[in-house]
Amino acid sequence: MSEIKKIVTAYSGGLDTSCMIPWLSEAYGGAEIYGFTGDLGQGEDLSGIREKAIRTGAVDCVVEDLQDEFVEDYILPAVHASAVYEGMYPLHTALGRPLLAKKLVETARKFGATAVAHGCTGKGNDQVRFEVAIRALAPDLEIIAPLRTWDLLTREMEVEYALERKIPIPITKAKPYSIDQNLWGCAIECGEMEDLWTEPPADAWRMTKDPSHAPRGSIEMVLGFEQGTPVSIDGRTMSPTALIKELNQVAGGFGVGRIDMVENRVVGLKSREVYEAPGASLIHMAHTELERICLDRATFNYKNKMSQDFANVIYDGVWFSPLREAMQAFLEETQRTVTGEVRIRVSAGLARITGRRSPYSLYDMGLATYSEGDTFDRTTAEGFMALYGLPYKTIAEVRRKAGQPLFVKRRPQSS
Ligand code: ARG
Repeated sequence: MSEIKKIVTAYSGGLDTSCMIPWLSEAYGGAEIYGFTGDLGQGEDLSGIREKAIRTGAVDCVVEDLQDEFVEDYILPAVHASAVYEGMYPLHTALGRPLLAKKLVETARKFGATAVAHGCTGKGNDQVRFEVAIRALAPDLEIIAPLRTWDLLTREMEVEYALERKIPIPITKAKPYSIDQNLWGCAIECGEMEDLWTEPPADAWRMTKDPSHAPRGSIEMVLGFEQGTPVSIDGRTMSPTALIKELNQVAGGFGVGRIDMVENRVVGLKSREVYEAPGASLIHMAHTELERICLDRATFNYKNKMSQDFANVIYDGVWFSPLREAMQAFLEETQRTVTGEVRIRVSAGLARITGRRSPYSLYDMGLATYSEGDTFDRTTAEGFMALYGLPYKTIAEVRRKAGQPLFVKRRPQSS
């Protein structure tokens, strides 16, 4: 192993990654430390962050606005794919990691660093996502995960470590939560919520208002889509990034998009996760509704099965993989006709679909109606049933001849 002289580290300005800058330098014989901070729409002011990293001991820190790239290359494919992990989690953190990993690698190349570091803990999914992505993009780079090896085991120890080195640390009071927020949502973990029976405390939420304090009444919004991409609100065309932000505001204001779940982590354990995803919830809901009218039955159902697998690929940290690329190609293909509008009524804590329309709608009023103007040919139904039911008729005849019961009422009990 060649000596490491330059290290690029993921830097958020929080306590962990602040301690990492001096720690890395000390642990690697005075190596030069460079930071990378990406703006994924976490809603924090990043204007002073480069200077802060430098005051903490970094040689330099690259700060980049990644919001549009995040939306274009990661969020939109997840929307098209209807990727929601275990039926609930819209994957905001899992989608952000491969992009950050890619940028860490780019930054390492820029400064000629031979190692990259991240501030993920040893029992989460994020270490998996970072490290698998970095290996996939830059197999030559060393990966350092100080939180898995250093002995700063508590927050207090980290604070003391930082004070000793006179490095700037966040002045916020010790928050009991571990939070990861971006444009697509927010995850809140730890604190009282580790007890599965405890309701998430009121101060845990950041993107959504308490539904019981939401405005009275309801509003209606029309979301427009083009080939699966959300492009307009109430006829106002905007970039998907701006659209997501606006929906976060509006739906968040009504307390829509709170998710409380227990999920299965890649590293084998179950964890309580509380999420907020106001915009993502509305977009997924409306998008799926549009697919209900624009996709034929077989494609819709087949796609839904693949959605689950695609969500697992994202969750499991294998974004940069042939499987993800191949699945994405299929999923994108299904979106060709997913164009149209969906009307949603939003009220306290709730969003309901109230209408949908599309130039590619496969819904045929003439075929569906029970009123005047019915074009469905009833006479063809009879032959359909005769053939569709033929195997079951045959089974019945065979069983009767053999003196077997026609069907078993319940499974025989094992002894
Ligand atoms: N459980 C989610 C995931 O694995 C969210 C993780 C959020 N990270 C955090 N540091 N709070 O994708």
